[in-house]
Amino acid sequence: EKGGHDWFMRKEIFEQPKAVADTLLGRLGPDGSLVLDEIRLSRDELRSIDKIIIIACGTASYAGLVAKYAIEHWTRIPCEVELASEFRYRDPIVSPQTLVVAISQSGETADTLMAIRHAKAQRAKVLAICNTNGSTIPRESDAVIYTHAGPEIAVASTKGFLTQVVACYLLGLYLAQVHGTKFGDEIAAVLAELEALPAQIQQVLDTTTEQAMALARELVDAPSVLFLGRHVGYPIALEGALKLKELAYIHAEGFAAGELKHGPIALVDEGLPLFVIVPPRGRDMLHDKVVSNIQEVRARGARTIVLAEGEDTEAEPYSDVLIRLPTVSTLFQPMLAIVPLQVFACELATLKGHDVDQPRNLAKSVTVE
Ligand code: F6R
Repeated sequence: EKGGHDWFMRKEIFEQPKAVADTLLGRLGPDGSLVLDEIRLSRDELRSIDKIIIIACGTASYAGLVAKYAIEHWTRIPCEVELASEFRYRDPIVSPQTLVVAISQSGETADTLMAIRHAKAQRAKVLAICNTNGSTIPRESDAVIYTHAGPEIAVASTKGFLTQVVACYLLGLYLAQVHGTKFGDEIAAVLAELEALPAQIQQVLDTTTEQAMALARELVDAPSVLFLGRHVGYPIALEGALKLKELAYIHAEGFAAGELKHGPIALVDEGLPLFVIVPPRGRDMLHDKVVSNIQEVRARGARTIVLAEGEDTEAEPYSDVLIRLPTVSTLFQPMLAIVPLQVFACELATLKGHDVDQPRNLAKSVTVE
């Protein structure tokens, strides 16, 4: 049942190209348009939305953080991301024009469920992004976009995460289409990038898995691992660190690269393993700023493990280990960069002799507060 893999988690990591392809299935029209009629919200309702609040827990909240960058960029609608456990205790500003997007793989997470009930009581529209048909959160929502990842058995979320990001992107593009903030050809161009994803994820699996596993062997005794990222790479740093905490039970933390000088750089010491997710070399300056960050931490003794696009000759000289990713646009890098981090955490936990599928103290769906 694990398809020849030692863990469900490993099987699910390798299923990601298919999970993403299945999540796109039937939603990309033959003419390059977006088909999302399954959303049970009318065009008028969607047009009236002036604020989006994404609520979720854990990994699902990091999917939301990635999506925030894309959704605001495409729709120009303000989008916040909030932990479900915080949302209802802070008197949030919600109106009938607010779209609350609840992301949950299981559809049963108590904090997320309580948060959508709170939002509904204030007459917000609630849309669920969920992987489990007929579960409580989509049942109680006004609308739902299912991720079609197939059952996720391992406690640590992998294909759930990737498909959540994809579903959020579809939602963002749909809103942009309805609100008229992006033209048809621009939307078609992004949809083409989505369509290319499964093959690119497969390429990452084929070309980086050995390297990520070797790295796990090398770092098996590391007491602490840090992750740096910027823009959409920042939530990937958080997610890479969470996977390591949950599975390997070691201290791991993700930081926004721009925050380095505001505190985290004090942690950098001789031999500290530090993953850095480098944005693609685009027109903005982010790439160069993150490359400077790599230099700064390396000068202080960090062992730099750099994830960058394959041809990144600027990052290469400062990389103790360079994990090469296919060249994609900034918004599409997260779905590739996370994959070797998942493989690394899975392998490191395996080497430590832990139960990867059932980490201590954790449950697959957290149905209590
Ligand atoms: C991490 C993980 C958890 C879940 C979180 C939300 O690997 O699995 O952080 O992402 O408990 O669960 P769902 O998405 O089912 O609401």
